[in-house]
Amino acid sequence: MFAHLTPQKLFSLEGKVVLITGGAGGIAAGLSAGFAAAGARLVLTDRNESVERRAADLRAAGADVTTEILDVTDAERTQAAIAAIAERAGGLDVVVNNAAIIVRKHFLDLTIEEWRRVIDVDINACFTVAQAAARIMVKQGSGRIINMGSIMGHVSRPILTPYVTAKNAIHGFTRALAADLAATGVTVNALAPGYTITEFSEAGKKDFHDFVADWIPLKRWGKPEDLCGAALLLASAAGAYVNGQVLYVDGGFLAVTK
Ligand SMILES: NC(=O)c1ccc[n+]([C@@H]2O[C@H](COP(=O)([O-])OP(=O)(O)OC[C@H]3O[C@@H](n4cnc5c(N)ncnc54)[C@H](O)[C@@H]3O)[C@@H](O)[C@H]2O)c1
Repeated sequence: MFAHLTPQKLFSLEGKVVLITGGAGGIAAGLSAGFAAAGARLVLTDRNESVERRAADLRAAGADVTTEILDVTDAERTQAAIAAIAERAGGLDVVVNNAAIIVRKHFLDLTIEEWRRVIDVDINACFTVAQAAARIMVKQGSGRIINMGSIMGHVSRPILTPYVTAKNAIHGFTRALAADLAATGVTVNALAPGYTITEFSEAGKKDFHDFVADWIPLKRWGKPEDLCGAALLLASAAGAYVNGQVLYVDGGFLAVTK
């Protein structure tokens, strides 16, 4: 009964090729584990060989993973690498624009080089990756583009000007792509985490950690695994009609004021 609507069918990524940029990162660890558990064939890319260690851990747990060392700010190489990856894998079903950097500095102290560096990785490179992926997906007549947004795409706090700017851009970029890719079979959504414990976040600073945990209605920081369910929704048949959305996974952070 209702065999096509079982969770196993709806959320399955069996045999699907899923490419994650910044694949050695903290949130990528959670996403990779969730996608692998749903049957995906993972392609993890990152700017250095740390991605090989991540892949080895995942393979040890039974995942199907290949890797590619790829600096996503190198537009030409990124376009070529994504085309080659899809060629080798026989397609590209899901791409996660996950790589990002952050520079924490007051606006008055920021250099133009620091501003450009963040904008280049956090938004310009997402253009390159999404366009390379979309060209393949449009030909296939199917695909999912997931851009990593942030609560900082909606609110702000001090010393984060370039990052907040880039994440706002990611949310708009997501809606714009959903419009341009209409009727192609490709959906585009943003997954917007709240405060999630990784090296990227400021979890090491105890005062800040406790302040944030107290603010969040769920009274704790997010873990990378907290993003698996939402990511799987956006990547799988379960999310077929979800398009152009920013899906916040923030423990309720944006819902309350302090
Ligand atoms: N951790 C959080 O609290 C949080 C909150 C909201 C949004 N996010 C977003 O989630 C995503 C992942 O964040 P994370 O916390 O896992 O960070 P992370 O630093 O652990 O991972 C980011 C990865 O991107 C890679 N990277 C950076 N520049 C690159 C480049 N030029 N080319 C290729 N790879 C590059 C890094 O090597 C790293 O492995 C980011 O888009 C971030 O903005 C994180």
